[in-house]
Amino acid sequence: FTASVGGETSRNLVETLQKNGKNTIVFFGSQTGTAEDYASKLAKELSSKFNLKVLIADLADYDYENFADVGDDILVFFLAATYGEGEPTDNAVDFFEFIDNEADNLSSLRYSVFGLGNSTYEFYNAMGKKINTRLEELGAERFAEYGEGDDGNGTMDEDFLAWKDSVFESLKNNLNFEEHEAVYQPNIELTEIEEMPLDDPHVSNGEPSKAYVTKANTDLTRGPFDHSHPYISKITHTKELFESKDRSCVHAEFDLSNTNLRYSTGDHIAIWPSNANENVDYFIKAFGLENKVDVVFELKALDTTITIPFYTPITYSAVIRHHLEISGSISRQFLSSIAQFAPDEETKKRTLEISGDKALFAEKIHDNYFNIANALLYLSNGQPWSNVPFEFLIESVPHLQSRYYSISSSSLSEKTNVHITAVVEAEKHGDQLVTGVVTNLLKDIEINQNKSSEKPIVTYDLNGPRKLFSNYKLPVHIRRSTFKLPSNPNTPVILIGPGTGIAPMRGFVRERVALKKNNDAKVGKTLLFYGCRNENEDFLYKNEWPEYAKVLGESFEFEVAFSRANPAKKVYVQQKLLERSQQINKLLEDGAYIYVCGDASKMARDVQNTLSNIISAERSVSEERGHEIIRSYKVQNRYQEDVW
Ligand code: 2AM
Repeated sequence: FTASVGGETSRNLVETLQKNGKNTIVFFGSQTGTAEDYASKLAKELSSKFNLKVLIADLADYDYENFADVGDDILVFFLAATYGEGEPTDNAVDFFEFIDNEADNLSSLRYSVFGLGNSTYEFYNAMGKKINTRLEELGAERFAEYGEGDDGNGTMDEDFLAWKDSVFESLKNNLNFEEHEAVYQPNIELTEIEEMPLDDPHVSNGEPSKAYVTKANTDLTRGPFDHSHPYISKITHTKELFESKDRSCVHAEFDLSNTNLRYSTGDHIAIWPSNANENVDYFIKAFGLENKVDVVFELKALDTTITIPFYTPITYSAVIRHHLEISGSISRQFLSSIAQFAPDEETKKRTLEISGDKALFAEKIHDNYFNIANALLYLSNGQPWSNVPFEFLIESVPHLQSRYYSISSSSLSEKTNVHITAVVEAEKHGDQLVTGVVTNLLKDIEINQNKSSEKPIVTYDLNGPRKLFSNYKLPVHIRRSTFKLPSNPNTPVILIGPGTGIAPMRGFVRERVALKKNNDAKVGKTLLFYGCRNENEDFLYKNEWPEYAKVLGESFEFEVAFSRANPAKKVYVQQKLLERSQQINKLLEDGAYIYVCGDASKMARDVQNTLSNIISAERSVSEERGHEIIRSYKVQNRYQEDVW
């Protein structure tokens, strides 16, 4: 939902730098927003501490044929994420094409790279590494060390801070820049509009795209729907799936019958979150914004390279509820940058001390799972931080991103209905209840739909200003995935999905049931492995599996591993796989496809090792050969993963 502001935007990088008086570029190659978020943090510090004039640039927004003319008076940073199996992010594809095949001499370029990757994947940080070495080959000069962040072991934030510190040292020691105490340099200007009433049709209540506010020339049911314009979908049915006092998993159904938005089995649905009332109220309290809640304001970009992040005019509360990520843990970087606005000297001192010390920050803030409001009120002993400009919050607090869920229905049996299966994230840490934004919203909707007691929630109502208890709607769009059943229904499939990894497997099974029922297709073996804690606690869709078996007959087999039924011995899906080694090997020899969904860091890896071992044992080949065979299945798309 970025709006381009301030007139013409140009794809000519050199021209953009000159026109806007910039001397630094921070490029980002981002898929889910992390690299973009770091780019904006780095840019802010470069400007507030070194007075640099920074252009934050999406790699997809510029052409590169005159890249060699950028010149050595410009500092160029790259924050580049690696996606999936060592691929560039979508927005970086053209840039890689340029450095791979088109660029010849970049000797006037000065650069530094930070890669964002995940060490549980095979091609860890392949893209960051590549920019770093390829630019060197092309003659460019690296002015600060290459850095890497690892999302796989949870050190991304600290890796980034360590790299940033080393960059700042290079700026001071090698390039003779002077660092001074941070002074916020706003990129946007906020103007309150007193005469504009809340119910003025131009005022955004936090609608997820401009079209929903202005309703201009747009048929809101037609799309196209994507990450900048979702469909606001009715949630027609919800159900609690667990039988547990303290854990919860919601089944929810989204109705697409009034739109042309479609999905295919195995796709993901993106759900756009809004913050819970309690978190919104607490954030308002932390910044003393109580009397601003319904005030309408407008934002203006202070130069043409800045994009306003959401549609305005808008109210303060709509921004806090629908656009800012206020529920997650506060970062050390954010804390250090907000210290300048502390309500008093004592609080400022404490804030700088804690944010400047990794161990102290971990002990006092991170390990207590404090969000922004918790941390600030803790540091100021309950005094509101009323000196913080709202522009600073808009620029520095991460923005809410849609969350992706594997669809658990089949487009064959539920053409205009999307099912999801979401475990509700809510963990108590000391006094702190840490909650997932979307999943708790879904849980609240479930409580309202199915129980008489109503819990106040705000969802979107397009027919007027904000209303509590409106009909239940959330903005969604579909992300196509490559997680797809073989085109021939007779091909055998082995499905492995413990926990909510069962979601797309349920979609696949329903698809095969529909193929059998509607077309009387010949359906191959469906061998499903599922795992949960206990039969009577978290066994997802327990009553459905026998129904599917009735239709599919012997071609459907279901194995479930209960990990906590016997306290002395955990049983995981891997054990169930081993017990069926012979059958699995035979199915693979007959051309079976394998599907794995669920936890990436442990389960998916353990399952892959188990399957390699099964192949090596059953075919009497070396373990190494077993691994190779599995890898070749992956290349042939016969081994597909949907893991997170
Ligand atoms: P546990 O939580 O009792 O250890 C869904 O989360 C199911 O997957 C649970 O039964 C969980 O067991 C199990 N699980 C946890 N780690 C796993 C792993 N490495 N491989 C397979 N299953 C795992």
